Amino acid sequence: MENLKSLTEALEQCDKVILNGLLMRNRIVEDMVSYKEANGIPILQPGQEAKLREWLKEETKGKRHPDEVINVFESISENAKRIRAQKLFDYNIVLIGFMGAGKSTISKYLSSVFAMDIIEMDQIIAEREGMSISDIFEVHGEQYFRDAETNLLIEMQSRKNTIISCGGGTPMRDCNVVEMKKNGRVILLNAKPETIYERVKDSHDRPLIENSKNVPFIAKLMEQRREKYTAAADIIIQTDGKNKLEICEELIQSLLVFDSRETDKG
Ligand code: S3P
Repeated sequence: MENLKSLTEALEQCDKVILNGLLMRNRIVEDMVSYKEANGIPILQPGQEAKLREWLKEETKGKRHPDEVINVFESISENAKRIRAQKLFDYNIVLIGFMGAGKSTISKYLSSVFAMDIIEMDQIIAEREGMSISDIFEVHGEQYFRDAETNLLIEMQSRKNTIISCGGGTPMRDCNVVEMKKNGRVILLNAKPETIYERVKDSHDRPLIENSKNVPFIAKLMEQRREKYTAAADIIIQTDGKNKLEICEELIQSLLVFDSRETDKG
């Protein structure tokens, strides 16, 4: 019995060490974000995660329960991403832009570096309706789809730290923009019609361009939408010729500038 008591105490000591180490680690993660922010250092450091994984693999070689230890570190790493996101953004990130502007791609990348949830609006609406976007347009009409978009945006206001990837037409309704801004920063991703064409030419789930997939038509529709898109945006990012990392870093830095201006306005 005495032995069990001392083992239990030893375990409690271990928990304390782990807890204190974790609290300290989380604090360091936050301090690093603040330091980078204050000194204009890029927030995203690709490669760090892989480095940690590599180090862990080496350190756990020949030790007991390596998989379990690695598992815990995976979770620590994911939580650190969340802590960074919470430190940086106290709101939802709403991505708008023309079809093929990169909203889904950038959402996925942002989500992978900040462990933020993604709401892919088209996908959620399609899932809820049990049919593709093209079928919704055909069966119920565009108006029905647009109403579903508005309702989803209202639903998302109770969230925080979520990436909302809008459909290309979402910001065309003024009331949608009002709803987006209630709890989110609106980022417009822009690209040239030629770039858009290259990205959409092989897909078949965009009823508005399905029968006119060519650069002049895309350019015309983009032009019709330009004013509304620009007016809706808190931040505009030109994506041509940039990779995902560059776009996301620009997005983060622009948000930091935007937020500090908002704070100054008080
Ligand atoms: C639309 C864009 C599509 C989809 C629907 C209508 C539009 O979304 O919502 O086909 O009006 O621009 P993506 O921008 O994700 O392709």
